[in-house]
Amino acid sequence: MNDTLLEVHDLRTSIGDLDVLRGVSFTIAPGETVGLVGESGSGKSFTALSLMGLLPEAARVTGGRIRYEGRDVHALPERERRALRGAGIAMIYQEPLTALNPLMRVGAQILEGLAAHGVTGDTARRRMLAALDEVGLPTPERTARRYPHQLSGGQRQRIVIAMALAMRPRLLIADEPTTALDVTVQQQILTLVDQLRRDHGLAVLWITHDLGVVARLTRRVMVMYAGRIVEDAPVHDLFKDPQHPYTAGLIASLPPARGAERAPLPAIGGTPPDLAALPPGCPFAPRCPQRTDRCTAEEPALTHRAACWVPKESWT
Ligand SMILES: Nc1ncnc2c1ncn2[C@@H]1O[C@H](COP(=O)(O)OP(=O)(O)O)[C@@H](O)[C@H]1O
Ligand SMILES: [Mg+2]
Repeated sequence: MNDTLLEVHDLRTSIGDLDVLRGVSFTIAPGETVGLVGESGSGKSFTALSLMGLLPEAARVTGGRIRYEGRDVHALPERERRALRGAGIAMIYQEPLTALNPLMRVGAQILEGLAAHGVTGDTARRRMLAALDEVGLPTPERTARRYPHQLSGGQRQRIVIAMALAMRPRLLIADEPTTALDVTVQQQILTLVDQLRRDHGLAVLWITHDLGVVARLTRRVMVMYAGRIVEDAPVHDLFKDPQHPYTAGLIASLPPARGAERAPLPAIGGTPPDLAALPPGCPFAPRCPQRTDRCTAEEPALTHRAACWVPKESWT
């Protein structure tokens, strides 16, 4: 075994003529927690959906490579791809209601998911109850008999996580799973996922527009802008010393920590780019306070840590 669980290289995904992912590359090690942050529309969900092979009808992967446990995912027969989805990589979505069938008891839904992967009978039942217990739902036997509408939003989100965990995945992708929940429940879910990571060595890709969440939950952060990762760094380094002006702007936009001096960084002006009409050069250049002539001529690649032509020393 090598120590790369997932390797994504130069992933490109389009909807018709629109290039939504323009070359996304990153790796995730077993048990690692990584955050993917960026403004709405930057391509975070498309990254996850491309990995899962669950893109909407009109979208397709047009280039790049995805390796899971060293195997090329696109080269797998459909049967093995289905097995990978859920049992290898599991995903929890933003809105738990869309992931649950309102007409079916939640226990039966978890069993159905397991059956689709060949786990049935007593083994399946034990795993289902264990998963409900792990996500902190009281009296698993009783909870299993409930319908989604008999549960609160926070409980439904826990059911969705239990569904994912029952499959014993190695990688959990969480796409803004807390945004629809109130702050207290968000905190509980964050703590829960972190606990599961520690107990099961689960790798987690946590997708959010909220840099504050990422700081609490992950060790490493990838910052996405206009369909590319523009910075990838350990969370501590990223906050202490951002190397991309966009990252610096995101940090500056965070509410200041209590008692901390606020860093004198400019917040981000302007609007997110229109993918259908990207400017030449760096897509962030029109909003970038550090822009030089080169930035509007040539797009920088993510070479070292950030995709930026302007070295930090010469920022103004
Ligand atoms: N159904 C769709 N039809 C056309 N374009 C879409 C559709 N869904 C998403 N997009 C485009 O894909 C881009 C990336 O979307 P998405 O990955 O959902 O962003 P994020 O999750 O970062 O908010 C968006 O900027 C949008 O332009
Ligand atoms: Mg999204």
